[in-house]
Amino acid sequence: MDVNGQAALVTGGASGLGLATARALVCAGARVTLLDRDAALVNAAADQIGAFGVSCDVTDEAAVVAALERAEAAHGVARLLVNCAGIPGGMRLVGRDGPVDMARFAQVINVNLIGTVSLMTKAAARMMAAEPQGPDDERGLIINTASITAYEGQIGQGAYVASKGAIVALTLQAAREFASKGVRVMAIAPGLFQTPMAQDVPPEVIDAIVSDAIFPRRFGNPEDFADLVLSICRNPMLNGEVIRLDAGVRLRAR
Ligand SMILES: NC(=O)c1ccc[n+]([C@@H]2O[C@H](COP(=O)([O-])OP(=O)(O)OC[C@H]3O[C@@H](n4cnc5c(N)ncnc54)[C@H](O)[C@@H]3O)[C@@H](O)[C@H]2O)c1
Repeated sequence: MDVNGQAALVTGGASGLGLATARALVCAGARVTLLDRDAALVNAAADQIGAFGVSCDVTDEAAVVAALERAEAAHGVARLLVNCAGIPGGMRLVGRDGPVDMARFAQVINVNLIGTVSLMTKAAARMMAAEPQGPDDERGLIINTASITAYEGQIGQGAYVASKGAIVALTLQAAREFASKGVRVMAIAPGLFQTPMAQDVPPEVIDAIVSDAIFPRRFGNPEDFADLVLSICRNPMLNGEVIRLDAGVRLRAR
C-alpha cells in the first residue's frame, strides 16, 4: 500500500507509539485521524502534526462508530488502521490479598483486546466496502499492537499478557477471514519502548530488559515502531504475522 494520499486511523494517537506513527504517516502523505480518549490531548496532538483529532474511548462502541463516521466524513474511507490504544495492568493472579480483582482484570482486557477488536472489525467492514486499489487489488490494512509479553509472560502481568496474547492469536485468524476482500492484518509485538507507558515500569525491570537485549541495548524509540508500520504498509507480502520489535530480548520471569 502506498500511504501517500490514503486516509488512515491511529488509535492511542495522542501519545507514544501512536503519535510517532501518526507523525510518520502524515510525513508520508497520509490523511491521518487520531483517536484517543481525552479531547484536549488528542486535538493538541493532531494540531501539532497536521492530523485530524477525534476523542473516542475505544471501549465505548457508540463512540467508536461515531468517531469512524467523523473520520470518514473528513478524509474518506480509511484504508489503514493502526491500533495503539492500550493500558498497562500490573497485578498478580493470586496476590497477598487473594485472587485478582476481576473488575481490574476485565478493564485491561476491555481496553487492550475488546477495544482493538471493535476498531478492527468496524474499520475492516468499511474497507471491504471500498474499491480495490493497486496491482494486488488491496482494500485495506490493519496493524494491531501486541507485546513480547504475549510470548514470555512476566510475573504480575496476567491481565496484560492475556490481552496481548489474544491479539497475537487473532492476527492470522483475522487475516484469513478478511483475505477474500483484500484486507491484510498484521501485528507488531514491541519490546521496551520509550513512551509515557514505560515510565511506570520499575527501573530494575528496565535495566534487565535493556541488558538482556542482543543488540542494540537501549529502549526502542517510537520512531523505530513507526518505521516498521511504514514497512508493513509498503510490503504486500506481509500478512497474518506478528513481528517482534525488541532488539532480540527474551523477557525474564520478573
Ligand atoms: N511502550 C512500551 O514499552 C510498549 C511495549 C509493548 C507494547 N506496548 C503497547 O503499545 C501501545 C502504545 O503504548 P505506548 O507505549 O505508546 O503508551 P502511551 O501510554 O504513550 O499511549 C497509549 C495511548 O492509548 C490511549 N488510550 C488508553 N486507553 C484508551 C481508551 N480506552 N480509548 C482510547 N485511547 C486510549 C492513551 O490515552 C494514550 O494516549 C499499547 O497498546 C501498549 O500496550 C508498549
